[in-house]
Amino acid sequence: MSLIFYLEKKMPPAVFAWMKRVFSMKQRLVLGSISGSKWLCNLYYALFSPAFRREQQAVAAGLLLHHSPGDQRSNYTLLRRNIHRIEKGLLMQPRRDSFALSYIVEAAQCYKQCSMADCAAEWGKDLAWAHDILEQYFEVVQESEQVKLARDIFLEVGKPSEGMGKKVPYNRIGGCGVSFEDFANLARHRRSVRWFLQTPVPHILIDKAIAVAAESPTACNRQPFFYRFFDDPEALKCIRTLPPGTAGFDHNIPMLCAVIGDLSAYYGERDRHGIYVDASLSIMSFMYALETLGLSSCALNWADIESQEREAEKMLGLKKHERIIMFIALGYPDPQGLVAFSQKKDLFSLRSFNQPNLPCR
Ligand SMILES: Cc1cc2nc3c(=O)[nH]c(=O)nc-3n(C[C@H](O)[C@H](O)[C@H](O)COP(=O)(O)O)c2cc1C
Repeated sequence: MSLIFYLEKKMPPAVFAWMKRVFSMKQRLVLGSISGSKWLCNLYYALFSPAFRREQQAVAAGLLLHHSPGDQRSNYTLLRRNIHRIEKGLLMQPRRDSFALSYIVEAAQCYKQCSMADCAAEWGKDLAWAHDILEQYFEVVQESEQVKLARDIFLEVGKPSEGMGKKVPYNRIGGCGVSFEDFANLARHRRSVRWFLQTPVPHILIDKAIAVAAESPTACNRQPFFYRFFDDPEALKCIRTLPPGTAGFDHNIPMLCAVIGDLSAYYGERDRHGIYVDASLSIMSFMYALETLGLSSCALNWADIESQEREAEKMLGLKKHERIIMFIALGYPDPQGLVAFSQKKDLFSLRSFNQPNLPCR
């Protein structure tokens, strides 16, 4: 339990409220003096506040893995990214005669290394995609030294067992088959559900929802996240109280999911937010898919609180470059359980068109 939750529970409400005011005053004073200068902020967070330390270590550990040529997963992520970039080159209008020259050799090397990796069978579909894209690239690109070198590496690798020429850019035919009304109904129907029936959640339904979540957009098609589900009663007993936001309803959660981001997916620090953005986009699809399968869910916050991070790291066996994005409680909704009304913001507070200043908050 974090210190703040502990104090909130143990202290008389008036004392706790006073403490919060003092804390806010201190924040105003300190942050008011430093927030105008990046240097002062750096100094403050380096010397006086540990708030970003775990995040920084995770980013550094991820980058180290990414830049370790022997690491299979890093090669796999790099392959996905490079193939994605080549695919974009293939669908450009007009397509250039020569493109991807700065990374085509790297792409071919990644393809070769991934094809020889222990996980090659697991990556069968991805390797088939990489094969088909590279094959099409070599068919259309103008010859050059890099292209020749990359093609030689590509040809050293045997043909994959899956795919063969199908996983290339294509014209989408027809609409999506879902009306706006149906989709709006789904969005309005979904609410954070905190009360569940004690009925086991079939894993086959989870797989169906994850397959939908996997269709979500991610930066450079990296998909730098992993969903870990827990429904074993013993495991659940330990893990369901990890996210502090389950207080009061944790005992009735039949399945809990931890979504883990993988910071080894990135070449540089600048992409460090990608795990949160990409995972969240997929989580939303996952939640909608659950609703269509009769299941419901509640996202659970995971703040960067050192004591809780340490507990989670130990319990889930997390590596330094892995970050929890959020937890999700899920199960069959209890028809007797209420959901919050959760009034949504008005359109005018959520969007503007061609307006130079942001609307008032
Ligand atoms: C990132 C995130 C974290 C959340 N954390 C919690 C939480 O810890 N506990 C909880 O009961 N609800 C949590 N929620 C659910 C929100 O309270 C809920 O989405 C919001 O009030 C809107 O209600 P609705 O989801 O029913 O539309 C979280 C939602 C999100 C998106």
